[in-house]
This record gives sequence, structure tokens and C-alpha cells, in this order.
Amino acid sequence: MARKIHIFDTTLRDGEQSPGASMNTEEKLIVAQQLIRLGVDVIEAGFPISSPGDFRSVNEIGRIAGDDCVVCGLTRAIDKDIDVAAEALKSAKRPRIHTGLGVSPSHMRDKLHMTEDQVVERATHCVQYAKRYVEDVEFYAEDAGRAEEAFLIRVIQAAVDAGATVVNIPDTTGYNLPEAWGRRIKALSDNVRGIENVTISVHTHNDLGMATALALAGVANDATQIECTINGLGERAGNTALEEVVMAIKMHGDALDAYTDINTRELTRASRLVTRITGMNVQANKAIVGANAFAHSSGIHQDGVLKRRDTYEIIDPADVGAAGSEIILSARSGHAALRHRLEQLGYSFEDAAFEDVYTRFLEVADQKKEVYDEDLESIVQERERDVDAVYTLNALQVSCGDPLIPTATATITDELGVRHVVAATGTGPVDAAYKAIDQVVAIHGDLQEFAVKAVTRGIDALGEVVVRVAAEDGRVYTGRGSDTDIIVSSAKAYVNAINRMINTARANRA
Ligand code: KIV
Ligand code: ZN
Repeated sequence: MARKIHIFDTTLRDGEQSPGASMNTEEKLIVAQQLIRLGVDVIEAGFPISSPGDFRSVNEIGRIAGDDCVVCGLTRAIDKDIDVAAEALKSAKRPRIHTGLGVSPSHMRDKLHMTEDQVVERATHCVQYAKRYVEDVEFYAEDAGRAEEAFLIRVIQAAVDAGATVVNIPDTTGYNLPEAWGRRIKALSDNVRGIENVTISVHTHNDLGMATALALAGVANDATQIECTINGLGERAGNTALEEVVMAIKMHGDALDAYTDINTRELTRASRLVTRITGMNVQANKAIVGANAFAHSSGIHQDGVLKRRDTYEIIDPADVGAAGSEIILSARSGHAALRHRLEQLGYSFEDAAFEDVYTRFLEVADQKKEVYDEDLESIVQERERDVDAVYTLNALQVSCGDPLIPTATATITDELGVRHVVAATGTGPVDAAYKAIDQVVAIHGDLQEFAVKAVTRGIDALGEVVVRVAAEDGRVYTGRGSDTDIIVSSAKAYVNAINRMINTARANRA
């Protein structure tokens, strides 16, 4: 029978201690509601004695949680703290008091100024004192990761004997290596009498980037509760990330002989909610919930994923509530990725035409980090415009500024394949470009309207220019052009309008 691993969420207590992540009661209630939807077993809602706001949060969350989950309040091993936590938890149907103190030499000597005997005595007292209020009492041995192992066993034995229902073993400073940490948890499991009737909890921090590995090492060595936060929020480098341990257990449940009751489809929503409320952004390459967690950028990976998703993805994005795998089109993307995306947008091309689009795509991709759908639409539309091109703008170079005279040099190929290189000056860069183009084209138009807009996102967006040009007979022709450089877009739009003018004139003569 696989073991159920209890998920103890401390986003609202340890997570909230993260610099800049503080939340008010209303915000905490919104997060708590999402934690309930996720199916966490315990919500650590705050540290009631620390402020009236924390007291209120614990109280209100106790009210909304009902039977859905345990609601826990943190205390120091001080009677007054426990009194206040008990008061705050009165609204909870399933209250838990979380109490304890430091057990490492450094915490006992430098912070608490207590001897080992005094710490053991205080551990016994605080558990017994909390038990006067609630049945469910969790004892934490702060900095257990750097405690003398024999002493840690002694303190935990005292807490179990005093009636603790859960013993929390924190690697408060994220100091351990996973294997050694696993041995430490096993030593407690093997040597504390009666611990088989108590939940062993692991509470690990990420100072060496190993919080998730440490938590799982605990699970592999008899821990059945993990303390964690959404997005790994928390003091310094953070706590264990809930989404990471939950997905690791889901994926490796057989090896770990374990499962959780978390509704993993709510993970992405939970992550985004906490990001929005705290303003603490998640790095793009963060496991499970980062913006790039299911994004594929290299051509080789894209080809693999398009053939079969699991060639490069171990998690189905739907399982964590993410929108889906994403193919990022960039200069590293290959034919398969581009063809796939174009087909999704409703465009299909014969091979030769596709090569044209691919070439233009690479030109755009070389100028931009990422090519978006709007860029592709623009590339395709531009190609459609160019099918009957009489003149093609091959290159444009413009120099301008204050006090320079705007000068444009354009290279244009006509329908006979003759290349023309022309230069002109103008009142501005667009005027100079248009005057250069006028030197080549056999027909002249009068520019009546000029509009420019960004068609895609970002500073490197493709800019589209739309011009309206009047022919000598008064008819007005629209031309469009797009490029990351709007002067080039302007020149392309003008050439496009001229081409349409010439084609219409030819059609009328025929
Ligand atoms: O990291 C830690 O030791 C803690 C305790 C208060 C449980 O957060
Ligand atoms: Zn902590």
C-alpha cells in the first residue's frame, strides 16, 4: 500500500516571511481558497502572536477551511504564544498548534542561551501546554539539519512522549546533502520510541538549491509530511516548492511508495495567483510553473516534440493546468516547427513557396528573439502581396539625424531581373527612400496617407506601414509593408502600392 504524503503548505507563513512578499488578510484568504482547491492537507496560516493581521488571518482561514484541511498556527515555545495561537484557531474545525525551538549548538548557545537539558524540558513543556488547547500538536526542532544527531533524537523523543502528533524536522538553513539528510530522518524513525504513531514531517530550505531533493530524501526515509510553499517562496533562497515535490511524487510514486492528494491541475493557477498577489515573479525556467517549463526553442527539440510530445517532455502540461506545450519560433527553429505553426494558423504551402516563407522567417528571426503568430501573419501577407511584384526592394540603407541630410540608398530589382542601385536625399528618411524609389519605377504616385503600427509584441516588434498613393488618373492604391525597421516597412509599402498601380494599369489595357 503506497503511503499518503501529507502536503503542509506554509506559503502564508514561511513563504510570506520572504522579503517583499507580505500579504494582507484579504489576500491571504484568496490564496487559502486556492490552497483548498489544490487539496493541501494543512495550511499554515500565520504566526498569530506576531501581529494582529496574522492573528486575524489565522482566524479567518480557520473559518473558511471547515473540514477541508487542517489549519495551523505557528508559535515559539512560549506559553503566551501558544495562548494567542489557540485563541486564533478557535474558528477552525481542525486546528493544529505548531510549536518548537532551536536544537542546534548554534541556536541553543547563541540565540536561546539554553543548555541541552533546558531545551528538552522546554520541548516537553510546550507540547504539553499546547495539548491543553488542541489535540493536534506539531513540534518543530529548528535547525535540526545542523543539530547533533544524538541530541536531536533525544529532543524528538521528548516531544513524542509529551504527545506531539507530528514532529517537524527542519533543515532551517538548507545545509544538508540529500543522502545525509535521508540518513538523519531514518535515524529518528529507527530510534525514537513510539514515532510509528506520529507523522514525521520534513521542512527544508533551498540555500544550496536542494530543498526539493532534501524533502524527497525525507520521504524515502519514512517522512510522510512535506512542508512547502507555492513557487518555493520563502526566507532567503526559499522553501521547498510545493509544485516540484508534488509532481516528483506523482511521477515517481512507485519508487517512493508514495502519493499525494493534490489536484495537480490547479498548480499553474496557484502559482500565478501567488505571483500576482506577492509581486514575486517566478524565473522563466522554474520547474513546473515557469513560463518556459513547456516551451521548446531548439530546432532538434521542436522536431522531436512535434513528432511525439514525450520525446522532450516528461509532464503533460494539462496535468499541471498549463495551457500546453509551446513551440517558440526563433532563429533556431527548423522547417518542421515553422510548417506546423503555419498550419495551425491555417496556411499551407507547396514546398517551393514554403522555402520562400522560411527564408523570410529566418531574416525576421535574426532580428528578433522570438517570432510571434502576428509576425508570421505579416510574413505570409507580405509574400502574398509580392507574388505579382513588378519591382522588389532588395535593400535599403538610410542615414539621417540632426544635423545630417537624410539620405537613402535603395537596391531594387525589376521584373526583368535588372538590379538598380539609386540614392536620394529628402526632408526625412521616408521622403529620401521614396525619392530613391521614384528614380527606378516607371510610374509615379502621390502619397496621400501614411500610417504605421506595431503588429507584434516587444521593442523588436514588426512594424507595419500602410500607405495610400494616388495615381495620375486619381485612383488611390493601398500598399502595405512590414519589417522590424519602420523605414524599410515604409519603403516596402510604397513599392507595394506602385506594383498594384502598375498591375491595375496593365489589366485595364489588356
Ligand atoms: O525553517 C524553520 O525551521 C522553520 C520553523 C519555524 C518550522 O520555518
Ligand atoms: Zn522554514
